[in-house]
Amino acid sequence: MRRPHEGDFHEGEGARGMETRPTDGFATRAVHAGQSPDPASGAIMTPIYQTSTYVQEAVGRPRDGYEYARVTNPTRSALEGNLASLEGGAHGAVFASGLAAIEAMLKSTVEAGDHVVSGANVYGGTERMFRTVWARFGVDFTFVDSSDLDAVREAVTPATRLVHVESPTNPTMQLVDLEAVAGVAREAGALLSVDNTFATPCLQRPLELGADLVVHSTTKYLNGHSDVVGGAVITDSDELAEGLRYQQKSTGGVPGPMDCWLVLRGTKTLPVRMAAHCANGRRIAEFLEGHPAVGRVHYPGLASHPQHELAQRQMSDFGGMLSVEAGSAERAARLAGSTRLFALAESLGGVESLISVPAAMTHASVPEERRREIGITPGLVRLSVGIEDADDLVADLEEALSGLE
Ligand SMILES: Cc1ncc(COP(=O)(O)O)c(C=O)c1O
Repeated sequence: MRRPHEGDFHEGEGARGMETRPTDGFATRAVHAGQSPDPASGAIMTPIYQTSTYVQEAVGRPRDGYEYARVTNPTRSALEGNLASLEGGAHGAVFASGLAAIEAMLKSTVEAGDHVVSGANVYGGTERMFRTVWARFGVDFTFVDSSDLDAVREAVTPATRLVHVESPTNPTMQLVDLEAVAGVAREAGALLSVDNTFATPCLQRPLELGADLVVHSTTKYLNGHSDVVGGAVITDSDELAEGLRYQQKSTGGVPGPMDCWLVLRGTKTLPVRMAAHCANGRRIAEFLEGHPAVGRVHYPGLASHPQHELAQRQMSDFGGMLSVEAGSAERAARLAGSTRLFALAESLGGVESLISVPAAMTHASVPEERRREIGITPGLVRLSVGIEDADDLVADLEEALSGLE
């Protein structure tokens, strides 16, 4: 790579150096993909282009296509290129939140009269948007147990345009056989979108398994530091990407450059953070599984997980998310309220450990009957295991659990 002061960088051309190749490893692409030294100065870090507009060379002649920042922004483009590379897709489009990304994905794929098959235990906010917002605009939804391929197949109608699933699901850690469900969607002439927020492209790449669209709450592991709300959609299809760009431009749910920059900084360390999350997640899952004060532990890395074999096939490791049965709402509240290091909070995927009670927090908007159907019991406690010292995390839970015995 040339040193910044040696370069004769030309505006818009992009400085040479650091281009990644699709054959580069994941960690290399995490650090470099989508980014090149800043054309103006050679700054190695993509600048935060905090601007709403761009000066044009002449009427109707914007420089490098930059006209207005709702439509394009260089910091945003760098993040989009980075995420596309990590998921193995040709295109990325980022949005102001995970829900904004899912909404844009729907707006660019379905219209009134279409039908969508959705996993029943997707994130509570996704379910709420589908059920209470989209249904008002003439889009029909069927919620099914997405781990049951026959149920997905039976739910499909001639009007089905999209199948949307999460794997692992939030918060019951159920898996969907992505390759198989992609086959069902394809047979039905429908698109498959996969929410890959829990696994991240570090552990699972749905596009390689046949998905058409991958969605993310970048708020979580991709950013990794609990200081941004954001979302992304990645696809290999030029046509779907065009639809997503049209949504950025025409409905405007885009993130600001500072937030893009923070997520871009986060993805550089994604592989090292995920390795630590996975190691700590496994350690905590094994500790809880052996503890008499709690019931079943839901973690795909445990041999006791009913889909452990699928997890081994589909994921390269099992992540830092798990849930555990505390027995009742009261016991769940006591456990979640008495940890020292696990902070009682919604969200997940940051370097710090969090604890929550989904039925009363993240999934409170899901109707009680559906919550019960999909296994979100009042006593279910969800842990987002951070990257602190595992011994400290175990000791923290041990102390909190001693109050439940
Ligand atoms: C799996 C999953 N998808 C989507 C979302 C929504 O993302 P955001 O909160 O960034 O809108 C969340 C939020 O918790 C989530 O857990």
